[in-house]
Amino acid sequence: MDSIEINEFRKKIEQELAILELNSSPEKLYDPIRYVFSNGGKRIRAVLLMLSYKLFSEEIEKALPAALAIEIFHNFTLVHDDIMDSAPLRRNKETIHKKFGQNTAILSGDVMMVKAYQKLGECDKEVLGKVLKDFNDAAIKVCEGQQFDMDFENNDHITIDDYLKMIELKTAILLAVSAKIGGLLGGANTGDTVLLYEFGRNIGIAFQLQDDLLDLYGDQGKFGKKTGGDVTSKKKTYLYLSFMEDAGPEMTRQLKSVISSDNITNEEKVLQVRDLYSALNLKSKTMDKIRFYHNAAMKNLERIGVAKDRKTAIMHLANALLVREL
Ligand code: IPE
Ligand code: IPE
Ligand code: MG
Ligand code: MG
Ligand code: MG
Repeated sequence: MDSIEINEFRKKIEQELAILELNSSPEKLYDPIRYVFSNGGKRIRAVLLMLSYKLFSEEIEKALPAALAIEIFHNFTLVHDDIMDSAPLRRNKETIHKKFGQNTAILSGDVMMVKAYQKLGECDKEVLGKVLKDFNDAAIKVCEGQQFDMDFENNDHITIDDYLKMIELKTAILLAVSAKIGGLLGGANTGDTVLLYEFGRNIGIAFQLQDDLLDLYGDQGKFGKKTGGDVTSKKKTYLYLSFMEDAGPEMTRQLKSVISSDNITNEEKVLQVRDLYSALNLKSKTMDKIRFYHNAAMKNLERIGVAKDRKTAIMHLANALLVREL
């Protein structure tokens, strides 16, 4: 029953993205955008916004422009993120900058961002001011998080707290604001919009921890991205930082030497790093951390002032996210 609602919302988002108004010329600007939207994606932020709205109101059509805005904005961040991370693969397809070139990816990304704002402008005028402020705050935070993520690649003094703050900015805030905007549009009171924001933030942190885990331990076909990318681009992930905390001097030396080695292939590098992490049981340590944030999110959800049976679908989404069944 619950997943029927999630699937329905996802389908609605797919349909709307497919008919999104885009000029036909210049082709080199618009074809990549059509390519991005036709390659799928879980649409979780849009669905989260719609489910949050649905806690308070039934007129779901009213949540659609904001849900689309968030989804388009998210896709824009992925296009630029893939340039920054030199990622070759997303959703099991070649990334935009690989397929169409970097300059095209920059410019098509820019148009996507503007398209997101166009959609946002279609929100109910009574709440548009609030929605726009929250959306803007979140968009800036994503950029801040992305810059920290890049800075950390070349910094050996990053702590787990620095990492958590960084993923909160680059990833969790967009889920937080999706849930909050859903509540705002649906007529939630201030207390409940705060709880929705916290719910999304906690789910978002758990989601990025999971993403880091899948980057190394996931099945590439299911993950849709090239596994091991975080190792080869020297990302300071929870796995890496936990290793540095737990390992003795000899293992620390080994990890650093593998990561900076120019004499082995990237595939070999990734395998060796995985073995080192596994020796310290870091997969289960990361899963504990994921559960911690997931539980915190569930507590936020429990406190939202609507009947429990209205929360089943959103709870289902939160659970499904962390096993990436969507
Ligand atoms: C990818 O987000 C970027 C992260 C924050 C990890 P998703 O995993 O939601 O990507 P799609 O939209 O479903 O492809
Ligand atoms: C991406 O984090 C966060 C944003 C796009 C803002 P990652 O770089 O880990 O996301 P993936 O793994 O490329 O999807
Ligand atoms: Mg990336
Ligand atoms: Mg990145
Ligand atoms: Mg990742």
